Amino acid sequence: MAKLFAIKPLSVVHEEAREEGEHTLKRSLGPINLITLGIGAIIGAGIFVLTGTAAAQFAGPAIVLSFVVAGIGCVFAGLCYAEFASMIPIAGSAYTYGYTTLGELVAWIIGWALCLEYAFGAATVAVGWSGYVSSLLGFFGVKLPFNPTPSVSLTLMGHLFSAKVDIFALSAIIVVTTILVVGVKESANFNSAAVMIKVSVVLIFIGLATAFAFTHWNHMMANWHPFIPKNLGHFGEYGWSGIMRGASVVFFAYIGFDAVSTAAQEARNPQKDMPVGILGSLIICTVLYIIVSGLLTGIKPYMSLNTPAPVADGAAAIGAGWGVCLIDLGAIAGLASVMLVMILGQTRVLYTMAKDGLLPSWVSRIHPRFRTPWLVTIAVGILVAFLAAFFNIAFLGELVSLGTLLAFTIVCLGVWVMRVRQPDHPRPFRAPWVPFVPIAGMVISVSLMVSTDLPAKIGFTIWLVIGLAIYFSYSTKHSKVQRTIQAQTAPAPTGQD
Ligand code: ALA
Repeated sequence: MAKLFAIKPLSVVHEEAREEGEHTLKRSLGPINLITLGIGAIIGAGIFVLTGTAAAQFAGPAIVLSFVVAGIGCVFAGLCYAEFASMIPIAGSAYTYGYTTLGELVAWIIGWALCLEYAFGAATVAVGWSGYVSSLLGFFGVKLPFNPTPSVSLTLMGHLFSAKVDIFALSAIIVVTTILVVGVKESANFNSAAVMIKVSVVLIFIGLATAFAFTHWNHMMANWHPFIPKNLGHFGEYGWSGIMRGASVVFFAYIGFDAVSTAAQEARNPQKDMPVGILGSLIICTVLYIIVSGLLTGIKPYMSLNTPAPVADGAAAIGAGWGVCLIDLGAIAGLASVMLVMILGQTRVLYTMAKDGLLPSWVSRIHPRFRTPWLVTIAVGILVAFLAAFFNIAFLGELVSLGTLLAFTIVCLGVWVMRVRQPDHPRPFRAPWVPFVPIAGMVISVSLMVSTDLPAKIGFTIWLVIGLAIYFSYSTKHSKVQRTIQAQTAPAPTGQD
C-alpha cells in the first residue's frame, strides 16, 4: 500500500532537469516565447464563441463579472503553478508536482487527467476549427468541389458519439503534428505567428468597438442596462447564480496557461522565466477577455448573442462587414495554435511519465536530430484525430474542463503540502498568502467541477477507471521510484555463499 504513495525525491527530479545531450529535450525558449506559448494555448474558441452564448443564456452584460470570477480562480491556480514550475522545472508539470508531494498514485491520476485537458482539448478545438475555415472560404465565395465532412452514418448513444471524417480538421492535426515533430523552436515560431494574428484581430475589434462606444454612448448604456438581469427563478438563469454559471462556461476560455509549465525542460532559464510565461499570458488574456466581453454586450443586446460567431456579429453590427472575415481569420490562427500547444503539452507529460517507468520506454524516445519525442507526438496526433472524428464537441469540452480542474486542485494542494514539508527548499518564485491562495484555488476548482453535466461526470469516471486499470497492470510493475525503494529496503547480502 505504501508503494502507491511513494514520493519521487526532489533531488532526483533536479538531476533529471539538468540532463543534457542528444537524448534530451532542447533548451531554446526565452521569456517571450513562453508568454506567446501561453497566449497560444489560451485564446481560442472560448472568447470567439462562448462569450456570446454565456451572456445570452446565463449572465447578460454581467458576463464581464463571469470572466472576472473565472479569471480570479485561474490566477490562484496560476500562482501555484508558477511556484512549482520555478521550483521543479520539468516537463511533467502537474504530474511531477503531484509525484514529489502526494505520491505515485495521485501523480498517475493527474497525468491521466491531463490527457483530458491536452489531448481532448486539442480534439475539441479541431472540431471547431474546420467550421471557421468553411466560413472564411464562404466569405470569399469559394465553393468546394467536395464535402469536407463526409459523414459515415453511425450514431451511437445519441449526441455523445457520431462518426464523421472532417478533412479540414484532419489536415490541421497532421500539419500541427508534423511541426511538433520537426522541432520545439519551429513549433514556437509557428505559434508566435498564429498568436500575432489572433491578438491583432482581438485588438482591432477592441479598437473599432471603442470608437463606436464613444460615438454611440447612449446605445451602449441602454444595452448594458440592467447590468445584472433579474434571475428568472432557476439557478443559473441570470442574477448572481447566472454569473457563476457563466463563469463555469467561460472557464474554458482560460484553459491552456498551465501548458507553459510543460515546456520547462525546453526553457533556457526555467526558474526565472516559467512564472513570467504562466502569469504573463494569463494576465494579458484576462484583460483582453474582460474588455471584449464588456464592449460586445454594449454593442448588441445580450439576448441576440447566442450565435455561432457572436464577436463577428458584433463587428458586423458596428458597420465593419469585413469583421466576419477578420474574426474567422483570428479564430483559424487561434485554434491552430491552441491545438499545437495542447498536443505539445500532452507529449511532454507522457514523455515524463515514460521516463519514470510508468509508461513504455518508446514514449520517451527522442529523435536524435529534431530533439523532440517524435514517436509519442505522432501517437498523440492519431489519438486527437480519432477523438475529433468520433465525439461531440460539447461533451469533449466538459471533459476538458473536468480534467483541467482536477489538475488545478491537486497542484494547489501540492503547493501547500510542499510548504509544510519542505519550508526551506529554495523557491525562485513564491505564491503569496499561502495557504489562502491554494485553498481558494481548490474551492473554486471543485465548485466548477461540481457544476458540470452528468454525462461528462460519467465519462470522467470511466476515464479514471481505465487509467487505474493501466496503472495497476503495468505502471506499478515498471515504476523506477518503486524499484529504487525496493533496492534500498532489500535485505543486505550475508556474504556467506
Ligand atoms: N482556452 C482555449 C480556447 O478557448 C482552450 O479555445
